[in-house]
Amino acid sequence: MQQERQFSRIDWVASSCRLLRGIAAEFTRTQPFAGLTIGTAIHLEPKTAALLLTLKAGGARVVATGNLNSTQPTTATFLAENGIVIIGERTGDAGAHHGFIDALLDESPDLLLDNGGDLFARFLERPYGNLIGGTEETTSGRTRLTPVRDKLALPILVINDSPIKQFAENRHGVGQSLFESFLRFTNRSTNGKRVVVFGYGACGKGTAACFRHGHSVVSVVDIDPVTTLEAHLDGFSTPHRTDAIRTADVIITVTGYPGIITAADLPILKDGVILMNGGHFPHEIDRHGLLADPTVVSVETSPEDMIATLTLVDGRRLHLLGDGHMANLAGPRPLGNSIEAMDLGFAMQALCLERVASRVLGSEASLVPVPADIDRAVACEFLDLNR
Ligand SMILES: NC(=O)c1ccc[n+]([C@@H]2O[C@H](COP(=O)([O-])OP(=O)(O)OC[C@H]3O[C@@H](n4cnc5c(N)ncnc54)[C@H](O)[C@@H]3O)[C@@H](O)[C@H]2O)c1
Repeated sequence: MQQERQFSRIDWVASSCRLLRGIAAEFTRTQPFAGLTIGTAIHLEPKTAALLLTLKAGGARVVATGNLNSTQPTTATFLAENGIVIIGERTGDAGAHHGFIDALLDESPDLLLDNGGDLFARFLERPYGNLIGGTEETTSGRTRLTPVRDKLALPILVINDSPIKQFAENRHGVGQSLFESFLRFTNRSTNGKRVVVFGYGACGKGTAACFRHGHSVVSVVDIDPVTTLEAHLDGFSTPHRTDAIRTADVIITVTGYPGIITAADLPILKDGVILMNGGHFPHEIDRHGLLADPTVVSVETSPEDMIATLTLVDGRRLHLLGDGHMANLAGPRPLGNSIEAMDLGFAMQALCLERVASRVLGSEASLVPVPADIDRAVACEFLDLNR
């Protein structure tokens, strides 16, 4: 009989990231980051482990910290054992997180890989000389950094603004993983549930579609009338905000903006409603405001399942998943977006960092989308691997 060998989720992910494996082999040969330090602030979970080891294969010294709340301790330990300098640990505390960002910038990285703008925003407050530029992964980071683009004046390629990231990760990846997260957190069915999705950008489109495929009755609320029209033509109901909230069994926020659901909505939320956020920052559902409202008489929490149940003075109960953090990276056994979605995005990350490291880009490339030739190369490679 053959001897059984165990493998971990990190092994499973690494072997499934087929684009990154090819890039790591190429980087091992070409060493685009030889002599450079890359500082990263991105969720430390198995898929980012594959990305960080790819950068290390290219000769980089990689110094990594996580984003708020999403660091997975086993991944951080694995990376530390494999030569990545890990700063900090999992924390939901914004002050502690900012301390980790500062400690990372103390290392004066030559390139920054940012996810939400924390690194570049803080760099402006405490600049140093050798920063060449870097990448920003998200919509929220681009929105945050756009007002300070002229001050940054460094090449920063925005992965989010590649069409591939938009449809592969934000639409298909986030849609599937928020659907999976709802099932994972609640073990409730989606059939026949009235689900309201706030925000009909790429993430909201995928989320609305996945819940529709899960036989929910899906409505969309977006502040932009043109986007709302698109949702209407896509066959979703588009009630006014108040009507949508009043009838929702499940509310999912994916806008990128704060205060989408607040204590002001407490009088109209339906008994038993489940509140879940998929946007980058945990501010779309105002957890603190909800908990502090005088009409909330008790809060029961299940730390293991990360479900908080708020009971109101009139007996209605509301359930908040994952403390309002991005649900697909919170709660029990969070898996995040699919490996394929992240392999595509992280292949672009690796190739964009290689492009910035080559110093062919100037300040005119501050907060610009992924160069089209990189999009095409990644698309061709992925298609070839799947033919
Ligand atoms: N969970 C994940 O894995 C994951 C992955 C990628 C992106 N994100 C995050 O998801 C969020 C959305 O990303 P996106 O790419 O879909 O953004 P997007 O900018 O394409 O879409 C956001 C939509 O929200 C709408 N909106 C803004 N304010 C609103 C409000 N008050 N009420 C209703 N609608 C409102 C906008 O009009 C827009 O249509 C961002 O925070 C992004 O960083 C999460």
